[in-house]
Amino acid sequence: MSSYTKPMVMVLQLLFLISLILATFNSGDDHFMYSGFSGVDLVIDGATTVTPGGLLELTNGTVQQKGHAFYPTPLRFVRSPGGIVQSFSTSFVFAILSVYTDLSANGMAFVITPSKNFLSALPEQYLGLANIQSNGNASNHLFAIEFDTIQNKEFSDIDANHVGANINGLRSLRSHHTGYYADEDGNFRNMSLISREAMHVWIDYDHKLTDISVTVAPLKVARPMKPLFRVTYNLTEVLTDVAFIGFSSATGTINVRHCVLGWSFSMNGPAPAIDIARLPKLPRMGPKPPSKVLDIVLPITTSAFVLIVGTIVFLLIRRHMRYAELRDDWEVEFGPHRFTYKDLYTATEGFKEKNLLGIGGFGRVYKGILPVSKLEVAVKRVSHDSKQGMKEFIAEIVSIGRIQHRNLVQLNGYCRRRGELFLVYEYMANGSLDNYLYCKEGKPILSWGNRWCIIKGIASCLLYLHEEWEKVVIHRDIKPSNVLLDSDMNGRLGDFGLARLYDHDTDPQTTHVVGTIGYLAPELGHTSKATPLTDVFAFGMFLLEVTCGQRPINQSSRDSQCMLVDWVLEQWNNGSLPLTVDSRLQGNYNDNEACLSLKLGLLCSHPFCNARPTMRHVMQYLNGDMQLPDIRPTDLSFHMMTIMQNEGFVEHYKIGSTTSIDTASAISVGR
Ligand SMILES: Nc1ncnc2c1ncn2[C@@H]1O[C@H](COP(=O)(O)OP(=O)(O)O)[C@@H](O)[C@H]1O
Ligand SMILES: *[C@@H]1O[C@H](CO)[C@@H](O)[C@H](O)[C@H]1NC(C)=O
Ligand SMILES: *[C@@H]1O[C@H](CO)[C@@H](O)[C@H](O)[C@H]1NC(C)=O
Ligand SMILES: *[C@@H]1O[C@H](CO)[C@@H](O)[C@H](O)[C@H]1NC(C)=O
Ligand SMILES: *[C@@H]1O[C@H](CO)[C@@H](O)[C@H](O)[C@H]1NC(C)=O
Repeated sequence: MSSYTKPMVMVLQLLFLISLILATFNSGDDHFMYSGFSGVDLVIDGATTVTPGGLLELTNGTVQQKGHAFYPTPLRFVRSPGGIVQSFSTSFVFAILSVYTDLSANGMAFVITPSKNFLSALPEQYLGLANIQSNGNASNHLFAIEFDTIQNKEFSDIDANHVGANINGLRSLRSHHTGYYADEDGNFRNMSLISREAMHVWIDYDHKLTDISVTVAPLKVARPMKPLFRVTYNLTEVLTDVAFIGFSSATGTINVRHCVLGWSFSMNGPAPAIDIARLPKLPRMGPKPPSKVLDIVLPITTSAFVLIVGTIVFLLIRRHMRYAELRDDWEVEFGPHRFTYKDLYTATEGFKEKNLLGIGGFGRVYKGILPVSKLEVAVKRVSHDSKQGMKEFIAEIVSIGRIQHRNLVQLNGYCRRRGELFLVYEYMANGSLDNYLYCKEGKPILSWGNRWCIIKGIASCLLYLHEEWEKVVIHRDIKPSNVLLDSDMNGRLGDFGLARLYDHDTDPQTTHVVGTIGYLAPELGHTSKATPLTDVFAFGMFLLEVTCGQRPINQSSRDSQCMLVDWVLEQWNNGSLPLTVDSRLQGNYNDNEACLSLKLGLLCSHPFCNARPTMRHVMQYLNGDMQLPDIRPTDLSFHMMTIMQNEGFVEHYKIGSTTSIDTASAISVGR
C-alpha cells in the first residue's frame, strides 16, 4: 500500500505545485487593461483611494503623504530559475492635480518591486520608494520610471519637470524633460507634469536588447513614434524572478493629487491599448480651462443674451414711451378718477379710425371698451399745450364726475399725457341729437313723443345743475349736438368741457365768452358773465330747434341771415304758429305740447334776462303744473337780429359759424 501510494502522493504534490505556480503567475493574468478602476482588485495603502468614479488617487490632496497601488498578484518576470527577465510593456494615463498650476509638488512613479511593503519609505522627494538608508541599495531590486516635479540636487535631477528611469533608488539612470517628439516634424514639444492635464505613458522593455524605452504624450495625441528616451540596462541584474507592479507617489508641502486614470500591462508583448473614451473624469481644479465648446457657445450665448436684454429694454422703453402719461402731485386726490393711458389705448384699440365716433369742436371722440370692466365708454381726445390752469380744470372735471343725473352723460374720469387730455364719458349708443334733427346719415325722424321726452329730460337736468346740486353749475353750451341719446333714446346732456362751477353764494364771474353762436344770450356780448339765465336762453333756442327742426340761424339766402326766433315770432304774429312745427313730423304731434314748447322757447330766449323764467319755472310749465303766463307775440316783439348786432355778435355769425367761439383756448384749458 505504502509503496503504491508514495509515488502517487509525490505526483499529486507536483501537479498541485505546478497548478499553483500556473495559477499564481501565469493564469492569463500577465496582461490586463483597465479604463478606470471601479471594481478593480488593487492592493492600496497610505493615502491611496479609488474614487466612486473609478479614478485611482494615489495621494488625496493632503500634505506629507505616501500612497501605493499594486496589481494584487506578483508577476513572473523570469520564466525559469537562472533565466532572464522577459520583455514587458506597460501603458497608463495619469494626471497630477496641484492646487497651484505653477508650483510643483513631488511626483509619482511606475514601479516593479519584489515587495509591496513600503512602510519605511519616505514621502516628498523619496516618492514613497525608499528612505535615506535604503536609497540606491542593490538589495532593493527596484525598477521605477519616475515623473518628478521637483529638482533634487542630491539625486542629480536635471530639472523640476522630468521623466527618469531609476534603478534601486531615486537617482535616475537616464532622465528627460517631459515632452514628446511630434510625429509630423520630429520636433520636441514641452509638456508640464503639473498642468493638470491627463498624460499618456508607454514603458517598454526589450529583453534581447535590454532596452528600456519611455514615451509620453498628451492624452489626445497618439503614441509618438520616437520615444522620449531610451536607456539600455539589463534588468535581469535588477529584478527578482517574481515581482509586483504598481505605482508609488508622495506629497510634500503642497496639496496635490496624483491620479491614474487607466492602466494596461503585458508580458512578452505590447501593452493593450487603453480605452480612452471610458476613462474616468478628472475632478475640476480651480477655474475650468475654457473649452472649445465654450469658445463657440459663450460668444453666441453672450451676444444672444445682450440681444435679448437689449430688445427687452427697447420694448420696455417703447412701452414706457407709448403709455407715458403726465402725472402731478396734486392729482393724487383725483386718483380714483384717473385712467391709465394704457387702459384707454387698449380700450380704443390704439385710437383706431374705426372706433372714431365723431369729431367735435375740441377733438376726436373714440368709442372704447375698458379692458377690465368691459364698460363701453366714449373717450374724448383733446390736445392742449399748457399746464397752466390744469389743476383747476381737472378739479372741475372730477367734481363734474360726481354729478349724477339720469339726463346727464356721466363723466367717468380723465387721463393726461404730454400735450393731450383724455376725457372718459359714458358711451351713448345713439349719438348726438342733431344727427336726428337734421337727418344726417339716414337717421330716422324723431317722433314728437321722443322730442317731448328729450325736452323734459334736458330741462330736468338743467334744473338739477342750476339749483339742486351742491354747487351752481352752468353748462354754457346747450345745443342739440351736445345732447346725446342713450340706447333708450333718452336725451342726456353732455360735453361739460365748457361748464363752470360756482358756489351757490358767490357771484358768478368769468372773463371769456364761451359757447356757440346762436345760443349765446345777448347780454354776454357786453358782460361776458355766464349765469343760469344764459343757459335758459340757450335752452329756449334748443326748444325752438327741436320743435321746428331748424337751426337757430338760417342762411336763408346768400346775404340775409334769419334768426329762428324772429321767424317763429313772425308766424305767431300772423296767427300761424303751428306752421313752424317741423314739417317732417307730417302733423303727427301734440298741438298743446308743441305750442307750449314754441311759446316757452320764445320766452326763454327773451333778450332781456330778467324776462326769462328760471329752470324751476320752465320745468313747472313743461309738466303742466303751472300755466304759461298769457303772453302775446307783441309782448315779445323784438328783433333778435338787431339786438345781436348791437351786442357785437354779428361779426361772428356773419362768418356763418355755429361752432363754439371760444376766446379762451380749447375747452378753456388754458384759462
Ligand atoms: N358719450 C358719447 N357717446 C357716444 N358718442 C359720443 C359721445 N360723446 C361724443 N360723441 C360723438 O362724438 C361727436 C363729437 O362730440 P363732441 O366733441 O362732444 O362734439 P362738440 O364738441 O361738437 O360738442 C358727437 O357728435 C357724438 O356723435
Ligand atoms: C488622505 O489620506 C490620509 C491617509 O489615509 C488621511 O489621513 C486623510 O484624512 C485623507 N484626506 C482626505 C482629504 O481624504
Ligand atoms: C543594503 O541593504 C542590506 C539589507 O537591508 C544591508 O544588509 C546592506 O548593508 C545594505 N548596503 C548598504 C551599502 O547600505
Ligand atoms: C522646453 O522646456 C525647456 C526647459 O524649461 C526649455 O529650455 C525649452 O526651451 C522648452 N522648449 C520648448 C519648445 O518650449
Ligand atoms: C543580462 O544579464 C544576464 C545575467 O547576468 C545574462 O545572462 C544575459 O546574457 C544578459 N543579457 C544581455 C543581453 O547581455
